[in-house]
Amino acid sequence: MTYWIACLAALATPATAQEQKATTPFVLAPLPYPATALEPVIDAETMTLHHDRHHQAYIDSLNKAIAADPALAGRSLEQLLAVAGAEPAAVRNNAGGHWNHSFFWKTMARPGTGGQPSPELARAIDAAFGSMDAMKAAFKTAGTGRFGSGWVWLILGPDSRLAIASTPNQDNPLMDVAETHGTPLLGNDVWEHAYYLKHRNRRADYLDAWWQVVDWKTVSERFAAARR
Ligand SMILES: [Fe+2]
Repeated sequence: MTYWIACLAALATPATAQEQKATTPFVLAPLPYPATALEPVIDAETMTLHHDRHHQAYIDSLNKAIAADPALAGRSLEQLLAVAGAEPAAVRNNAGGHWNHSFFWKTMARPGTGGQPSPELARAIDAAFGSMDAMKAAFKTAGTGRFGSGWVWLILGPDSRLAIASTPNQDNPLMDVAETHGTPLLGNDVWEHAYYLKHRNRRADYLDAWWQVVDWKTVSERFAAARR
C-alpha cells in the first residue's frame, strides 16, 4: 500500500518540485518503482541495498550532523548544497548523498519505458555535443575517468548550454565547491555500491547498460524547468 501511495503522490507532483521540497529532518522516500523494476540492468538486491541501506545512512548521518549544529536546522537541502564548502564534511557529504540519490532514483524507469528526449532537449544535445551518441561517449569518458567514487552528470550550464560534469564523492554541480556548476538533468552514480553485484568491476559496462533505464520524460521535464 505504501508503494502505491508513493506512486500516486509522485504522479501528482512534478519531479522538479519533488526535488525542492525536503527540509530538516530529512526522511527517506520509497523508491518510485519496485526494486525489481530496473532488472536486468540493475538487480533488485543492489537496488534494495543501495536505497534502504546506503541512502538511509546518508540521511541518518545528515540529520545527526544538523542536530549537532542548530544554525543549520530548517534549511532546505538546496540551501545546504549552495554553501557546502563552508560546512563540516559530514554535512557536505551527506547532504550531497541525500540529494544525489533522491535525484538518481527519479532519473530511472523500467527498461524500454523511458521514452526519448523531448525535441527541445534532443536539439540541445545535438547543439552541444554533435549527436546523442557523442553525448553518451562524453558521459562514459567522464564516468570511467572519475577516480575512486563519484558521479557523472548531464547539466544545463549557466551559459544555457548542456555540458558533462563529474564530481567526486557525493558532491554535485549545485555545490559552491563544484568545478563545473549547472542544473543537473541526469546523473549516474559511479560508486561501486551502485553496480558491483551485477557488473563487478566493469564500470564501463554499467555505464553503457544504464542508458536502458534512463527516464527521458523526467529528464526532459527537468530541462524545460531549468530553461524557464
Ligand atoms: Fe550510491
